[in-house]
Amino acid sequence: MTTVIPVSSATGTYDVVIGPRLLDECGDALRERGVATDVGVFIVTDEHVDKLGYADQVARSCRNAGFSVARTTVPAGDASKSLSEATQLYNALLDAKVRRNGIILAVGGGMVGDLAGFVAATYQRGIRFVQIPTTLLAHDSSIGGKVGVNLPRGKNLVGAFHPPAAVLYDILALKTLPEVEWQGGMAEMIKHGLIGDQSLFDSLCESALVRYPTEDVLEHILAKACSVKIRIVEADERESGQRMLLNLGHTVGHAVELVSHYALNHGYAVAIGMSVEAEIAVARGWLPEATRDVIRRTLRAHGLPTAPPDYNLDEILAVLGHDKKHGSTGWTFALPRAVGRVEIARDVTREEVVQAWQRTTSHGRE
Ligand SMILES: NC(=O)c1ccc[n+]([C@@H]2O[C@H](COP(=O)([O-])OP(=O)(O)OC[C@H]3O[C@@H](n4cnc5c(N)ncnc54)[C@H](O)[C@@H]3O)[C@@H](O)[C@H]2O)c1
Ligand SMILES: [Zn+2]
Repeated sequence: MTTVIPVSSATGTYDVVIGPRLLDECGDALRERGVATDVGVFIVTDEHVDKLGYADQVARSCRNAGFSVARTTVPAGDASKSLSEATQLYNALLDAKVRRNGIILAVGGGMVGDLAGFVAATYQRGIRFVQIPTTLLAHDSSIGGKVGVNLPRGKNLVGAFHPPAAVLYDILALKTLPEVEWQGGMAEMIKHGLIGDQSLFDSLCESALVRYPTEDVLEHILAKACSVKIRIVEADERESGQRMLLNLGHTVGHAVELVSHYALNHGYAVAIGMSVEAEIAVARGWLPEATRDVIRRTLRAHGLPTAPPDYNLDEILAVLGHDKKHGSTGWTFALPRAVGRVEIARDVTREEVVQAWQRTTSHGRE
């Protein structure tokens, strides 16, 4: 089976295609989407993904479909999401004589997607790119058009909105994902269920999704999670309102990640963030305790942490205080109101966070 979900963006419509064997079929998929074979395709991947042969599959498929192919590999890890790596990619594109009608194929997880997408957004004032995600978390990062790189002073500080020409999501590539990357991706799936799809959340809370379920189940669940993100970015591509709902778990999560010096996996930090933020919502009378308990059980069932690590709370609060989401009336948070419904609160106080953190810590010890 293959699922195709069209996404409207300011620059046109693109398809999110989810299914097996898309790596082997991507040359034809490009041609079907009107990419002329006389333009060169340029594949960007990382070392881990390269060793797994996924970029070879893409290159073979593109050559068979009549495209000329150039490619480059960057070191794995978020350190490659940098301006210096972007500069190397610009040079590689120039060496390969990629022109303004060329197309970049980002084969990998969110790091490759963000970096290659940023290079596509800026090379010769912008060329097309296609997301070919290979991680579960990339169901989040490959949709919505946000691309960018990190600066030494912070993550994602330089970037653009540059929607892909297509997202080709081969679910077979997920078979090789290490457990921690699977779990991290599950945190974002659970988040998408909580934000906007009760049936998705219910299917994850009844029993943990096994590391690699049947192809049909995986395709179905990924399509649901992608659809939540698609609905929100279609309504608010440039993050002036609704897109903030996607921050569920990320306000506290980012602070935890930063204080861990990025030693903690992003999805783990988001799981902790969702647990603390659910506790804030309970204390405000926004969320029934029973729903908070289901959220916690679901996260745990997927191997995710729900208790804050033993970090200094003052450091967490300092990060929240410096965060751009700080307004005059308090901190802005996306808080759960029910499974499938999240609302923005703009008046969350320091005291609410302190109490929620402490309560989440004591629940974690139960
Ligand atoms: N643009 C957005 O809207 C958005 C949203 C969320 C996250 N992000 C970004 O996404 C990045 C995180 O994404 P990620 O978790 O996919 O990280 P990643 O791309 O670093 O991948 C994680 C690890 O898995 C490896 N890997 C990738 N595919 C594999 C496979 N099929 N089998 C085995 N190993 C594989 C990678 O080499 C890497 O070591 C961060 O940079 C984050 O800022 C962007
Ligand atoms: Zn995230």
